[in-house]
Amino acid sequence: MYQEIDLDRIDINVEPPIEEPDRQYYFMARCRQWVQAFERKNGRRPRACIQTFGCQMNARDSEKLLGILERIGFEETEDEHGDFVLYNTCTVRENANLRVYGRLGYLNTLKKKNPSMLIALCGCMMQEQEVIDKIKKSYRFVDIIFGTHNIFKLAELLYDRLEQKAMVVDVWESTDRIVEELPTERKYPFKSGVNIMFGCNNFCSYCIVPYVRGRERSRNPEDIAEEIRRLAADGVVEVMLLGQNVNSYGKNLENPISFAQLLKLVSEVEGIERIRFMTSHPKDLSDELIEAMRTLPKVCPHLHLPLQSGSSKILKDMNRRYTKEQYLMLVDKIRQAVPDISLTTDIIVGFPGETEEDFEETLDVVRTVGFDSAFTFIYSKRTGTQAARMENQVPEDVVKERFDRLLGEVQQISARVCARHLHTVQKVLAEEPDSHGPGYLTGRLGNNTIVHFPGDTSLIGTIVDVYLEESKGFYYMGRQV
Ligand code: 5AD
Ligand code: SF4
Repeated sequence: MYQEIDLDRIDINVEPPIEEPDRQYYFMARCRQWVQAFERKNGRRPRACIQTFGCQMNARDSEKLLGILERIGFEETEDEHGDFVLYNTCTVRENANLRVYGRLGYLNTLKKKNPSMLIALCGCMMQEQEVIDKIKKSYRFVDIIFGTHNIFKLAELLYDRLEQKAMVVDVWESTDRIVEELPTERKYPFKSGVNIMFGCNNFCSYCIVPYVRGRERSRNPEDIAEEIRRLAADGVVEVMLLGQNVNSYGKNLENPISFAQLLKLVSEVEGIERIRFMTSHPKDLSDELIEAMRTLPKVCPHLHLPLQSGSSKILKDMNRRYTKEQYLMLVDKIRQAVPDISLTTDIIVGFPGETEEDFEETLDVVRTVGFDSAFTFIYSKRTGTQAARMENQVPEDVVKERFDRLLGEVQQISARVCARHLHTVQKVLAEEPDSHGPGYLTGRLGNNTIVHFPGDTSLIGTIVDVYLEESKGFYYMGRQV
């Protein structure tokens, strides 16, 4: 098994292998020599800090990046005074980009004090040519830039940088390969994200993801099941299956398989007690999947089903390929099959051409469905997308006013809906010590609602019965029974 390879036993006096992941283990061994020299010189291991922006996919990528760095011999640090600082970036909305530029200014001051510090950037933002141009021009102190398609190459790129002492830029436009068997370092010992597919083919007109994450590629079900078996053997009880559009999982595999079939396969893994997944596109949500959610007890009663807008006209311009009525019918169908399901969503306010009537349609869906929670976003114009070329952009003050109204509505509904399990006993996965005070833990219900309750840290990673005593809007206070 690759994970157990002893880097010190890899022969680095020969040419690097061509095949992956062998090639990367070879470069990890080469970087390890550098780390050992650093240690001799400084009397400590070099420290690496990874800052993650954006979604769960990025969070999972960062675990892989950290896994590589730890195998090389870096010590993890949360603080940006490290010897190697890596930003895994997001570009879904413009403010994500602005945050990265802001932080880079700060890193520059740190690097002036510690010139041997290495700074690397990767992730979605690096897939945009204008970003690369800007960094090359105005942020010359950056050492390594890579994109979303070649994160597996971190060791090789680090080695290149150490050898050539100049900025290394390696961004691929696309890829059809998936490199398996790299090390990962999980944030939580008892739960883990698992990529089941990469990329997106939907081209919603506002969204930059298909441009920066490339076309849809599904991993082989056997590779996924094997990864989950290993996770279970390592103490993981909950997995979150990750993809931009999990409902179209497996369609393009040599031996096609549906997402519902994958859920069955994952359900069979002993030791796994909870299965979550993210994200579902309403247009691809099949009856087979609803049936799987109804019948497979390990699949959590939670569905994240991005609405984006409640207006059929806006949905058409967004290229979402469903109408308001179809969305509502889908919700009915799901609720009939899984009555107690928790529904969450994403909503964009201020898409080009959105009128007050369109916005009220969104409020109407929000009220009709009664989401457990909704992530609300102000529309952000992304260069290169279809919507960026639309002329009728909505004025900023109008958008802001609608956004505030929506948020108020969403919060009110969510507080009511989330409280529906008050005074019942529920299964809770204890996840971490709670900031409410010493002796308290934070955990989650199957439907993802947060619960705080008194308990010992030895319970972390186990599922316990908790009586929900008090509802606080978005979370409960409870006690173990
Ligand atoms: N502007 C605002 N929100 C966006 N999202 C995606 N692209 C944009 C954009 N250009 C939101 C969508 C998606 C979530 C991950 O981010 O709601 O579901
Ligand atoms: Fe973006 Fe639409 Fe793909 Fe989601 S489904 S990543 S919103 S293009």
